Amino acid sequence: MRAISAKPIGIFDSGVGGLTVARSIRKELPNEDIIYFGDTARVPYGNKSRETIIRFSKEIMEFMMSRKVKMVVVACNTASSFSLANLQRSYPIPVVGVIKPGVKEARRLSRNGKVGVIGTKSTISSRAYEKELARSAGRSYSLYARSCPLFVPLVENKLVRDQVTYRVAEKYLKPLRGKKIDTLILGCTHYPILKTVIGKVMKGVMLVDSSLAVAKEVRRILQRDGLLSGHVKKRGKMTCFVSDDPGSFRDFSGIFLKEKTRVKKAVL
Ligand code: DGL
Repeated sequence: MRAISAKPIGIFDSGVGGLTVARSIRKELPNEDIIYFGDTARVPYGNKSRETIIRFSKEIMEFMMSRKVKMVVVACNTASSFSLANLQRSYPIPVVGVIKPGVKEARRLSRNGKVGVIGTKSTISSRAYEKELARSAGRSYSLYARSCPLFVPLVENKLVRDQVTYRVAEKYLKPLRGKKIDTLILGCTHYPILKTVIGKVMKGVMLVDSSLAVAKEVRRILQRDGLLSGHVKKRGKMTCFVSDDPGSFRDFSGIFLKEKTRVKKAVL
C-alpha cells in the first residue's frame, strides 16, 4: 500500500486563479505530487451565496477524497471564506484555507495597525477577514475592506497592464488610500497577477500575496503530521482536472502557473 506521505496534495479553486497558490506550493515543496481541481463549469464563485459555495466545495472535496489526497488546500478565497470550517469539520484530512495565512502575514508586516483587504463581493460580504483578525490574540488592528469585482474579468481578459485596469484600480483603491493603511491583503486568487498595477496605485503600501504564506503553512502542517513526501530527488507530478472543457484552462494556465501541465476533464 502507498504510504500516506507519498500521496498527492489536493488544491481546488473555482477555476484557473488558484494556480497562483499551486505555483507557490510547487516552489516551496517541489517534490510533492499535486492534484488541482478548477471548477471551470461553475466559475465565478465570487458573487454566489454561502449555501451554494458550501455545496460546490463539498462536491469537490468528495472528488479529492476519491483521488486519495493527503491534504486539501482551498485556494479560492471565496470558498475559504464560506466553507473552510465546514470542510474541516467534515473530513478526516487536514484542510487549509487562504484567509488565516494572509491575515497572519499582514499582522507580521503592518507597523501602524491599519490593514486593507480586497476581494470578491462574496469574500468581502462574508467578513471572513474581520473574523480572523478578531480571533488572533495580541495587538488590535483596524481593517478596511473593499470588493473589486472587475479585477477577475480584467485578468481573465488578459488586460493585466492595460490603462483600463489602472483606471479601475484607481477607482476601487482610492478610498483605501485615504485610510492610511500600510499593508494590503490581496484576498483573491487573481490579484497577485495585478501586483504591478495595484502596487503603483498603492505606492508605499506592502502587498500581501497570501499564496506565499499558504505554501509555508502547507509545509508546516505536513511536517507536523509527518506527511512530507519522501521523494527528495524526484520533481512532483502535477495533474489538473476541470469541470468544463480543458481547452480554455490550458490557455490561461500559462499566465498563472508558468509551466506546462496535464489537464483532464472530471465529472463531479
Ligand atoms: N477564485 C476566486 C477567489 O479567490 C475568484 C474567482 C471567482 O470569483 O470565482 O475568490
